[in-house]
Amino acid sequence: MSDIQLNTPLADNDPRPVALVTGAGKRVGAAIARKLQRENYRVVIHFNHSRTHAEALASELNALKVNSAALVQADLGDVNSLPDVAKKTLQVFGRCDLLVNNASSFYPTPVGKATVQQWQDLFASNAQAPFFLAQALIPELQKNNGSIINICDVHAHRPLREHTLYCMAKAANKMLTQSLALELAPTVRVNGVAPGAVLWPEGSPPSADRLEEKLQAIPLQQLGGAEAIADAVAFLAQPQNYITGQILNVDGGKSLLQ
Ligand SMILES: NC(=O)c1ccc[n+]([C@@H]2O[C@H](COP(=O)([O-])OP(=O)(O)OC[C@H]3O[C@@H](n4cnc5c(N)ncnc54)[C@H](OP(=O)(O)O)[C@@H]3O)[C@@H](O)[C@H]2O)c1
Repeated sequence: MSDIQLNTPLADNDPRPVALVTGAGKRVGAAIARKLQRENYRVVIHFNHSRTHAEALASELNALKVNSAALVQADLGDVNSLPDVAKKTLQVFGRCDLLVNNASSFYPTPVGKATVQQWQDLFASNAQAPFFLAQALIPELQKNNGSIINICDVHAHRPLREHTLYCMAKAANKMLTQSLALELAPTVRVNGVAPGAVLWPEGSPPSADRLEEKLQAIPLQQLGGAEAIADAVAFLAQPQNYITGQILNVDGGKSLLQ
């Protein structure tokens, strides 16, 4: 199911580029949408369950700049909904220049207890949907010399204990970035951003001991915050840059110690 909302009728021939950001109702995805809008993009905010957050974000952005945000709802685990997300993105603003695959499931799957359903869920959001959304938007991105940015994870390079399925899915996301970059050059650049610890998973604030332990594993000794990822996305999205097939670690140096 998809749903689009715009506050006023569209002006013809609006020259602003358009970005689709998945999982953008809150947290890192919302920071990416805000940053891209400040960089003069119109943004399609994809969400699944976070309708209230997504609607509030779209209202906030549209109050700042008229017709700069719209919504599309979909469960990315439903592979049949992905062409529809791409289609609705093109319908609402008439073009697409940037796809940011940010949506992700994340939870532990200790070996011995992992299920096929968890495998499918973790691969669906972290690897399958990024591929099929990209595939659906390729003709449009080629037409606009556009770009794809996949939000990966430093644990695509090195495992996180008891998160085998998530790490495997993010490793697929990393290879997706490199492989598409090769296949889509020279018209479409494809890059990734690999966060370290930027925000704690929702609903599980750390104990003081856990926080201290986590910060000790980060040379810069702080969590990155969502804006650090948004800034990296905005940098990689710049149309004039000479970068493709790269995964930029935004991790305060964490990967140096892994
Ligand atoms: N937070 C960190 O410290 C950290 C560290 C390393 C990597 N990352 C990566 O950075 C990105 C953003 O992180 P985050 O912590 O902001 O992510 P998050 O809050 O865990 O998830 C972002 C959104 O993904 C959407 N999503 C999940 N499964 C979906 C599905 N099947 N269909 C549609 N939407 C789905 C959810 O949308 P709804 O709420 O609308 O359902 C959710 O709000 C992710 O790719 C994550 O893997 C984050």
